[in-house]
Amino acid sequence: MSLPATRQLALQGAAVFLVLSIAWPYYGWGAVELPWQQLSLAIGGVALVFATVTRQPVWWRIIHAVFMPLVWLTHQAQVDPGWFLPAAILLLLVYRGALSGQVPLYLSNKETVAALGQLLLERGPCRFLDLGSGIGSTTVPLADGLPEHHFTGVENAPLTWLTGRLLGLGRPNVSWQWEDLWQVDLGDYDVVYAFLSPAPMADLWDKVVAEMKPGSLFISNTFPVPGQTPTQVIEVDCTPARPLYCYQR
Ligand SMILES: C[S@@+](CC[C@H](N)C(=O)[O-])C[C@H]1O[C@@H](n2cnc3c(N)ncnc32)[C@H](O)[C@@H]1O
Repeated sequence: MSLPATRQLALQGAAVFLVLSIAWPYYGWGAVELPWQQLSLAIGGVALVFATVTRQPVWWRIIHAVFMPLVWLTHQAQVDPGWFLPAAILLLLVYRGALSGQVPLYLSNKETVAALGQLLLERGPCRFLDLGSGIGSTTVPLADGLPEHHFTGVENAPLTWLTGRLLGLGRPNVSWQWEDLWQVDLGDYDVVYAFLSPAPMADLWDKVVAEMKPGSLFISNTFPVPGQTPTQVIEVDCTPARPLYCYQR
């Protein structure tokens, strides 16, 4: 388990401990059954305060606030416990990247794909790599519009990879790899595109510098490389803003 995940577990655990250590003696003294609905809301509230005070990212604050109330709701709904394991496996098959590297699945929009298409058209035929290629929502339409270019997608979440593989079938200019992006040699490509998260950007830049050849181009959607000035920023016309940070090697 990564350090941030351990931290979040400790934070939620502290909220549970605090609320229950007050509630148990209070209700136990009067021999009253614990009011789990109210307690789950209280735990969510305390966890939200802890997450806010310790400056966790916004999405973690939301998760902390709703986690226990959702546990209570699920309990009320009397969901068969047999569903939880398949649900967890399904989530892992799609969101493996979120667990292993804080990079979940979300897709580039069509405006971004159009901007990339224009950039690649101006550049001329080349080898393009989508690092963490999801279900191919970038690679496949680009491959259709630019038959002279070659597109490679690298994805490590099994079900996501399989979906992209199927959606990209029948295109001679698409290669689809089920692999960890950190194992790929970036030196084989002229343009490398990444739409990941802030978490891996510093390490990814080290890899870019070590492997990409002079004249090649690294593009990061939305997440700039910390401490590096991009050679170009393409402002894509969409909401929310999704700038393309371009770094010429
Ligand atoms: C934000 S999505 C971007 C998807 C696609 N590139 C697009 O622009 O629509 C990031 C993808 O990277 C994948 N990913 C995360 N860590 C990875 C890793 N270490 N190796 C390969 N893929 C990874 C995730 O599973 C996810 O599908």
